[in-house]
Amino acid sequence: MNMNSNEQVRQALKTSFSRRSFGRIASVVGAASALPILNEAALAQLSSIGRIPADAIKINANENPLGPSAEALEIMHKFTPLAGRYLYEETFDFVKTIAEQEGVKPDYVRPYGGSSLPLHHVVMAYTSPEKSLVTADPGYEAAYRAAQTVGAKYHLVPLMKDAGYKHDVKAMYEKDPNAGVYYICNPNNPSGTVTPMNEIEWLVGKLKADQILVLDEAYIHLADIPFGSPLVAADKNVVILRTFSKLYGMAGLRAGFAMARPDLLAKFTKWNSGALPVTAMVGAHVSIKNAKLVPERREIIRNVREDVFNFLDKKGYSYIPSVSNKFMLDVKMPAKDFAAKMASHKIYVGRAWPAMPTLSRISVGTKEEMAKFKEALPKVMG
Ligand SMILES: Cc1ncc(COP(=O)(O)O)c(C=O)c1O
Repeated sequence: MNMNSNEQVRQALKTSFSRRSFGRIASVVGAASALPILNEAALAQLSSIGRIPADAIKINANENPLGPSAEALEIMHKFTPLAGRYLYEETFDFVKTIAEQEGVKPDYVRPYGGSSLPLHHVVMAYTSPEKSLVTADPGYEAAYRAAQTVGAKYHLVPLMKDAGYKHDVKAMYEKDPNAGVYYICNPNNPSGTVTPMNEIEWLVGKLKADQILVLDEAYIHLADIPFGSPLVAADKNVVILRTFSKLYGMAGLRAGFAMARPDLLAKFTKWNSGALPVTAMVGAHVSIKNAKLVPERREIIRNVREDVFNFLDKKGYSYIPSVSNKFMLDVKMPAKDFAAKMASHKIYVGRAWPAMPTLSRISVGTKEEMAKFKEALPKVMG
């Protein structure tokens, strides 16, 4: 098909939904908007920008423009005609493979349609008006938004500016030694920076029976750093979240999992309802079986990222060095104004964080997309 992905999505929507049926869906979602976890912003993963021009460059949501791997596409195609059935067994097989690869027993793994839902549920289960959430600033907002839904306090602890913007685990612990949840995203969203495993282990060593660390590894495949799974295998109070929305290029398909000791899982997986999308399950399963996929894609993304960083260095722009598929660029103006100016060049960049109001989060797109970003940037920065 000779169309870019925005146009493909638009065409697919046109032919699949009439305006009336879309209106009906919208009214159901609207009625649920009083429920914080089902509102439009949550459904949009905090990064909805509405309809954009067909030829726009979309580098706002840390997606992977490469999309699902070739073998994922093939098996999902094969399973679509069979999807009149629930096909639970396909999900059980997926869980077995994850367990083998991560070195845990299968009952330590719970599959989900993405990692947003387990993130919301685990925070809701382990925070309360008496038990706070401690997270990084800037950090991924979904964790503290979930805490707010149960009336819990949350504490934002600055990343360590002078130490590569890693999490300040000691300050996080000291902020509230009785918190219900400490949330660490490694590498972090939005900064793309890494917190060393020995520092994460230090925090884990401090946890009492009613406290947990939520280790969000949404971006772990993009960085060449160790997984946290040995902490789960060692039965620590750690819940790991993974998603197939980033390196695996399956954000719209929805696959992910939570990994923890079964008694920790039991506390928040009780809100699950049942079957999962079989296309996403088989697509994710075949993707993790391909040992080459992660290193190959990591290198593709790293090369594009390093090329952009070389360009920024030459131009004298400052940014936070990242090992992920996004980075924070100092745009020397309110980041919202920068986003609007870039949008006038049909380039859609990410959001900003109040702690760093002139830093804009830029996702790493394809080489061609980033060439257009590099072309527009000096025009906007002046
Ligand atoms: C840090 C982090 N965690 C979790 C998620 C949720 O991703 P998904 O629900 O698509 O798996 C995201 C999405 O951007 C994220 O950035």
